[in-house]
Amino acid sequence: MKIAVLGATGLTGQHLVEQALQQGHEVTAIVRNPGKLTTRHDKLKVVEADIFSADSLKAHIKGYDVIMSCLGFPPSFFAGVTGYTQYISALVSAMREVKVNRIIVMASWYTEPNSASQASCLARFVLLPIIRSILTNMHEMEQFLDGTQDINWTVVRPPSLNNLPATDQEFKTHEGYFVPDPSGKPVGTSISRGDVARFMLSQVNSDSWVKKGVAFATQ
Ligand SMILES: NC(=O)c1ccc[n+]([C@@H]2O[C@H](COP(=O)([O-])OP(=O)(O)OC[C@H]3O[C@@H](n4cnc5c(N)ncnc54)[C@H](OP(=O)(O)O)[C@@H]3O)[C@@H](O)[C@H]2O)c1
Repeated sequence: MKIAVLGATGLTGQHLVEQALQQGHEVTAIVRNPGKLTTRHDKLKVVEADIFSADSLKAHIKGYDVIMSCLGFPPSFFAGVTGYTQYISALVSAMREVKVNRIIVMASWYTEPNSASQASCLARFVLLPIIRSILTNMHEMEQFLDGTQDINWTVVRPPSLNNLPATDQEFKTHEGYFVPDPSGKPVGTSISRGDVARFMLSQVNSDSWVKKGVAFATQ
């Protein structure tokens, strides 16, 4: 498969690029700072582009089978976060122009504002308020994708991330904003970035979660 990765220099994006290459995919990393990606491979191309510009993106995604995004933007209490909606709008325009229609996008548990009622007090009253501006804009990005007819999108929603490599643990999945246990409480609290990359790549050849948002966790 020919895969274009946005956010390839990030902590999850680097796992994604490594694993995609290990699986034999042809990868183009679309980055703003090529020097930051240290991976070298015959099947890896690193290109510089403006993620907020359809014109800048389209040449780099033409002919690709799937676009994958691990982009992330810092929280902002005062101005709000707009990076997610800005890039997705530019990217979807570019995809339409060059007729690429498969995209797998990384978001998070609890993007929907009322979805965290079963989360721990620490999460509800301390952690989530700190990142609410990120989650709000991620949710707007999700809604934007949901409003498209022609794009085969999958939004993958992991819980809190740690920087460990991939495991071989089974994934638990749920179409929603977190993965509940039988009593409705969230299962687990964190997942390795390596496993997030593994889950995202498992969707490349799968129709299971097309046009859906899937929360996932490991055992
Ligand atoms: N932290 C958590 O516990 C958690 C939990 C669930 C979901 N998430 C979400 O998962 C996603 C990935 O997380 P992560 O920790 O792997 O992210 P990260 O390490 O912060 O990487 C973010 C990536 O986005 C790129 N980026 C940001 N602004 C850009 C711009 N203006 N132009 C081009 N590239 C830009 C960065 O490029 P540079 O390398 O050039 O800066 C980097 O490649 C994020 O959306 C995050 O919010 C996080």
